[in-house]
Amino acid sequence: MALLRFDWDTLYRELDGCTKCGLCKGRHSIVISDGDPHAEIMFIGEGPGREEDEQGVPFVGAAGRLFNYLLEEAGLTREEIYICNIVKCRPPQNRDPFPEEAEACLPYLRAQIALVRPKVIVCLGRIAARYVYDSEIQISRQRGQVRKKGAFYVIPTYHPAAILRKQELTNDFVWDLNTARRIRDKINNGEEILV
Ligand code: URA
Ligand code: SF4
Repeated sequence: MALLRFDWDTLYRELDGCTKCGLCKGRHSIVISDGDPHAEIMFIGEGPGREEDEQGVPFVGAAGRLFNYLLEEAGLTREEIYICNIVKCRPPQNRDPFPEEAEACLPYLRAQIALVRPKVIVCLGRIAARYVYDSEIQISRQRGQVRKKGAFYVIPTYHPAAILRKQELTNDFVWDLNTARRIRDKINNGEEILV
């Protein structure tokens, strides 16, 4: 899939009925994105869960509801961000996507990034961070460490599902979301960003 001269229509057409990996077999919907396609901050999760697969929208289950709440804690709203996943079809039993599934689906994510052109990308959890930030990432050690990657600032943080299991991660998570918002604000104010 060529990224140059790529537009939303082409992306949606390519995704329609996609069978590029085995995850196509168990899916009910292809879960592409939610939020503002012109967002300045983009969030990337792992893959749809059961409710996302049923509704065709990312982050609408329990983790998504917590995410929405914590976004607001950090001064952001769901409407102003763009959110999507590494794989667009639900892995069975919510297992991690296999590398070949992620690789098959990554061209769509690259196209989404190229079309949205966010200023800041937040990786929600290890899987997203592995493909977008650092293939060797250890989230507990590296979360919140901003890196400049090409045109984007990228921040890895916990997956909201991890916060459902371990509430003590909440403050770090909100801190990282605040970092994303502050970097966006600095870029918009023409201020220097030191990473
Ligand atoms: N977890 C994810 O990584 N993505 C979703 O869309 C929902 C839950
Ligand atoms: Fe296609 Fe991605 Fe779904 Fe695999 S996960 S079938 S590559 S849309």
